[in-house]
Amino acid sequence: MNVVNTAPVTAERDLRFTSEVERDTAHLYAKVSKVIPEVEWPVFAPLIHRINQLKAEKNAVILGHNYMTPEIFHCVADITGDSLALARHAADTDADVIVMAGVHFMAETAKLLNPGKKVLIPDMGAGCTLAESITGEDVRKLKAQYPGVPVVTYVNTSADVKAESDICCTSGNAVEIVEGLGTPRVIMLPDEYLALNTAKLVTPEVITWAGRCVVHEMFTPEDIRGMRADNPGVVVLAHPECSPEVIAEADYAGSTAGMAGYVAKHKPAKVVLVTECSMSDNVAAEYPEIDFVRPCNLCPFMKKIELSNILATLETGQHEVLIDESIAARARVSVERMLTGWAPGAA
Ligand code: 13P
Ligand code: SF4
Repeated sequence: MNVVNTAPVTAERDLRFTSEVERDTAHLYAKVSKVIPEVEWPVFAPLIHRINQLKAEKNAVILGHNYMTPEIFHCVADITGDSLALARHAADTDADVIVMAGVHFMAETAKLLNPGKKVLIPDMGAGCTLAESITGEDVRKLKAQYPGVPVVTYVNTSADVKAESDICCTSGNAVEIVEGLGTPRVIMLPDEYLALNTAKLVTPEVITWAGRCVVHEMFTPEDIRGMRADNPGVVVLAHPECSPEVIAEADYAGSTAGMAGYVAKHKPAKVVLVTECSMSDNVAAEYPEIDFVRPCNLCPFMKKIELSNILATLETGQHEVLIDESIAARARVSVERMLTGWAPGAA
């Protein structure tokens, strides 16, 4: 590869693609060479190099969700996974600083589990349509409407909503959490499709809320049938934030980690991941022998996170996520119950 100068040099920041940068990042390029063209590497490599230096200097850890682009997911994130894995790792880390390469509710969850640590997000605009669909006041009204019915809240919510809930769940443990409550009814918020898909697999009656994920609600059963017609033999894996009609057309439904695990275990010759675009790139980077069909629905919020703002966050400490302790104390209980187990009537 030729050495190319791609960025202006300032006194503080030298982001040239030098031979040292090329050498130090060669092992990282090997991980993503199937999904990042060689011509783009000189732009990414200096940022990656500097981010990894700063992480060590500041004892920072980067948590990267499965929807991050491959240069973030494979080259700067220390921990990667679905929302559940990121929450579990956030609870365990020894780092002084946690940078969330994901969306705001994930950073809030990390902060709830690490009240004494600095939690940063590279862009405060990295929201979520599910988190936007409901407020703490909405939950209070629902509880008044259904007294005594436990509230299971998807982690894709604000701390304010979690504070009004009994227990959190993710798409990776929703069935287990709802079934584990042992009650005849549960309120499950705010993703209507996740709740309906969960309701098909559990004993309790599930009361839903009309929240939707902007990425997954776009997929239709006709899309899936079209993919099968165009790609004979394709294995269809779908996220449970898709509608029940879409899930009915799929071969498997599971969280982003569940889908990645399915590919690792079954190694289908041809597969489609019915979810956010970058997920396929990240899994495809590890399985060059598998043919990935790529319908592309981007999450505009996840895509706000880039190498450049991760670097700026580490350099400046900007965009710290803070939660009022009167809310945090109650929201933390809901998240901790999800991680350690809980049923109504238990302490
Ligand atoms: P999981 O990674 O937990 O499956 O969640 C998907 C998602 O939409 C996160 O925003
Ligand atoms: Fe929210 Fe959907 Fe984006 Fe996930 S993919 S952050 S659920 S809008």
